[in-house]
Amino acid sequence: ETKVYAEKYRPQYHFSPPTGWMNDPNGLVYHDGLYHLFYQYYPHATVWGPMHWGHAVSSDLINWDNKPIALYPDKNGFIFSGSAVVDKNNTSGFGTHGKIPLVAIFTYHDMEGEKSGRSDFQTQGIAFSLDNGETWEKYEGNPVIGNVDTKDLRDPKVFWHEGTESWIMALVAGDHAKFYRSKNLKEWDNISDFGQNQGAHGGVWECPDLFPLKVEGTDEEKWVLIISIGNGAPNGGSGTQYFVGDFDGTTFSSEQKEYKWLDWGTDNYAGVTYNDTPDGQRKFIGWMSNWQYALKTPTSTWRSAMTLPRNLGLKKIEGEYVLVNYPVQAINAIISDTSTESFELEASEKKIWANTTLSQSKVSLSLPKKDFVVSFSNDGGEEFRLIFDSASNLVMLDRTTAGQDDFNYQFGNKLHYMILDDKTSESMKLEFFIDNASCELFINDGENVMTSQFFPSEGFSKFSIENMADETIVVSDFAIAEVKGIWK
Ligand code: FRU
Repeated sequence: ETKVYAEKYRPQYHFSPPTGWMNDPNGLVYHDGLYHLFYQYYPHATVWGPMHWGHAVSSDLINWDNKPIALYPDKNGFIFSGSAVVDKNNTSGFGTHGKIPLVAIFTYHDMEGEKSGRSDFQTQGIAFSLDNGETWEKYEGNPVIGNVDTKDLRDPKVFWHEGTESWIMALVAGDHAKFYRSKNLKEWDNISDFGQNQGAHGGVWECPDLFPLKVEGTDEEKWVLIISIGNGAPNGGSGTQYFVGDFDGTTFSSEQKEYKWLDWGTDNYAGVTYNDTPDGQRKFIGWMSNWQYALKTPTSTWRSAMTLPRNLGLKKIEGEYVLVNYPVQAINAIISDTSTESFELEASEKKIWANTTLSQSKVSLSLPKKDFVVSFSNDGGEEFRLIFDSASNLVMLDRTTAGQDDFNYQFGNKLHYMILDDKTSESMKLEFFIDNASCELFINDGENVMTSQFFPSEGFSKFSIENMADETIVVSDFAIAEVKGIWK
């Protein structure tokens, strides 16, 4: 499908819905050459409404084709977030004529039940497709997991667990995660719970994900549990925390004491990972917004976009497990070739690159961990800045003057901070991906990440680096590259 996305603020190399409202990524699964991206979708307005699953497919996670809506609300309710699996062994029995079924597992939200004051209005349902996601049929026995009196019970993430030869589901129930087991995707047993006394609880738990990762450079395998929280993220509103621990096929446990955040920015929520990736890498996509202001952002025919798809990895830094996330390699195919430069900046010196198109760009640089300010700005004087404070090992993002922010008082009222996990290295590497109305910042190949929306009245055209230290610094591997749009 050919599409030109020319509206103001429309991302050019991120996924956004053709028109209408979008929130969480759903049903992330790879099958038969295609990465599927389903998403929470309300096609009839640019605000949240009766939820459907919108659908797009890609062979590389960068170029997307829009598909017809996959799942519509029905008598059981709206279709909330969930996941999808490839049922290779036809455990569900949905596969006929030798076809392998894709099975979607999602939450039903019964609006009438909620209005009438009941607390059992979220149940879990399934649907299947025998044509690699083109068409879907709901299971006649829905819901497959009912509800007695749990107000928030949602967002099933299902995966095949080799060790126990069964399907495992992570589900959230308000202030904790529940794990279920099934042999056929239809009958489920609750096998364990996690989290009532661990982790951040500033908002209800949403969108869980559980998967194993090898610690980089070792044979050690750990399990990571991702949990989004609707409120209470470090910079306000919604955010995604993670736990590193162990899963024995029944129980998840973690010795982690402190809170950990997958992304410290304000705009990466409800992210989950792909089942069955062809290269075996764990791939993540998040929703690039925040419930604090998601309904109000100043876009026109559509609302919100997804983050860049990112590979996840696990590192041990100074004795701590750190979940790293970094754009998938396929992004390099749309980044222009540029040579890198190195230069010195004297104490208090500011170097400026003017008249540069930065609207769709990747800016990279490495520099010592001394005080500095990096900035993107336009001729109208709007500016998006990164401030590094070496004494506190703190990165701050400043979007308070980056453009339109009158739609919500919390959008542009403060700096957003992040504490670097790496406290001992003397230098840091920064990579900024700008796409009209967003910036994804990756530090040290994804050890620390911040994703941020902004709405400048015109594109950024000026980049600067200011040395705030009282000694000369060397900036190396500096490059400004153009990132080509995919929607034409
Ligand atoms: C997260 C979330 C999910 C829910 C969906 C509804 O953003 O609240 O918990 O399933 O959105 O659209």
